[in-house]
Amino acid sequence: MSQTTTWNSQSAPAHDQTPEAEWWRSSTIYQVYPRSWVDSNGDGVGDLPGITSKLPYLRDLGVDALWISPFYRSPMADAGYDVADYRDIDPLFGSLSDADDLIARAHELDLRVIVDLVPNHSSDEHEWFKAALAAGPGSPERERYMFRDGKGENGEEPPNDWKAIFGGNAWTRVTDADGNPEQWYLHLFDPKQPDFNWNNEAVREEFLSILRFWLDRGVDGFRVDVAHSLVKADGLPDHSAHAKMAGLSDANHDNGGPMWDQDGVHEIYRAWREVLDSYNPVDDERYDSAGDRAMCAEAWVNPPERLARYVRPDEFHQAFNFAFLETPWRASDLRESIASSYASNDAVGAPTTWVLSNHDVVRHATRLALPIGEPRPNGIRAEDPQPDAALGLCRAKAATALELALPGGAYLYQGEELGLPEHTTMADEARQDPTWERSEHTEAGRDGCRVPMPWAKDAPSFGFGSGDAPWLPQPDVYGDLAVDQQDGVPGSTLEFYRHMLRERRARRLGEGALTWVEGPADTVAFVNSRDGHEDLWCVTNFGGATTLPDDAVVVVRSDERDDLTVPTDVTVWFTRA
Ligand code: GLC
Repeated sequence: MSQTTTWNSQSAPAHDQTPEAEWWRSSTIYQVYPRSWVDSNGDGVGDLPGITSKLPYLRDLGVDALWISPFYRSPMADAGYDVADYRDIDPLFGSLSDADDLIARAHELDLRVIVDLVPNHSSDEHEWFKAALAAGPGSPERERYMFRDGKGENGEEPPNDWKAIFGGNAWTRVTDADGNPEQWYLHLFDPKQPDFNWNNEAVREEFLSILRFWLDRGVDGFRVDVAHSLVKADGLPDHSAHAKMAGLSDANHDNGGPMWDQDGVHEIYRAWREVLDSYNPVDDERYDSAGDRAMCAEAWVNPPERLARYVRPDEFHQAFNFAFLETPWRASDLRESIASSYASNDAVGAPTTWVLSNHDVVRHATRLALPIGEPRPNGIRAEDPQPDAALGLCRAKAATALELALPGGAYLYQGEELGLPEHTTMADEARQDPTWERSEHTEAGRDGCRVPMPWAKDAPSFGFGSGDAPWLPQPDVYGDLAVDQQDGVPGSTLEFYRHMLRERRARRLGEGALTWVEGPADTVAFVNSRDGHEDLWCVTNFGGATTLPDDAVVVVRSDERDDLTVPTDVTVWFTRA
């Protein structure tokens, strides 16, 4: 049964973005995970020439920029988030000249390029860490990392109780040249990712220089890895003690704790912002404003007001909106999440970003079919209950249509435009994410969302590369979802994304003002208005089937009906005749 409604819009916009020329306020940015996008040399791992060869695909998809996960020299203990040399490309991915070619080609195609910067930690194979080990306790080399003496009579206990994100202790004890146990070093992630000491001037200088190195090569910005962890609380207090003091029941990534979101991080980003702002693009007609280079914080920080501190006018340009990603699939929660994102970002004059998937979380085409309101799992295994693929895809399309109708910046993750599900039946032996081993097989980890892209159904590794064995196995269902199966096919997820992105760009939805609409119960409904453009209405239905107003002219819909009915888990964009 359909419900009727008046579809009255409220009078005052709930969010009104000042129209500004800066591209990053409203862009759609596509994340390329380089290991898994295109493998040009058949070694089973994606690479930079592969990315360059497929840039026209991104232009045709209709995104504005690409963010490339780390491509630096690395022993790949955390898929490249363990950097051994910040100024070189890992041979697995190519060379610096391949990076130059990629940047140049992207610019020719009007695509901006954002690179991933990992400042919290290096690889243990970075020259500085090797030097720190060799130089011994008390040396300036050790001062660039977080070395401490252990507790206990012989220093046999770790300096505090911190746990690593991937599992196990956050401290590892080193041995001296004679093999005797010696100091401990901190690693918030894997033991092969020692944390830098950000109170050290040399570390600060080094990163300013790394920023310049890549800006000089022409990159348009940076995605900054775990931006909220660089500074640790003075004295490195026990986490449990700190949690008690702060009234926190649990200690994890984003709810406080002496290693997260310390006030001291902000001065670091102010210094970085000065560097970015000093790059006034020249000799390129596309760039007409100063401050065109942008940086986005990966900061799992709650509540939104704390996160907004990272995007004050002299810090980051953007921060990922993980609160939105984690919002349960319920109308009231999503409305509240969207409203509070705008409120906190508007208060500091920053754009809001929207994101649903990335290389660290279960893909939203699968995640949204999990029981609503339960904590997000870190990967799904074959022995776990298998989410309903059709339901997941239906909700994912509705969620993405909601995301892309919202004013602000949007991030897409490679393969979501194909409706790729998570690989939920991967053999445990194939897993590469350090989480699987470090958690003692209690957490599957993130491999399921990192599986190589299917480009062509009937080619080796579904067209990812000429080799038969991609670095992670692809599930059979990826064949039918390959690009060549969807390209030009009406009703395919790929054509749906292209259509949405075309409309979003033509109608300048990223720059709009949002006004909430009193739609039927169990819907999220709003109007996106821009000067000089028709109002765009968007409704997502979480309840029983409902209908659009009689004068609705459908622009986009996430299902394939062609009437005014909006079934459950469907989003429709429309104008009013
Ligand atoms: C970030 C990255 C993740 C990585 C971690 C450590 O959260 O997105 O992939 O494992 O930082 O660098």
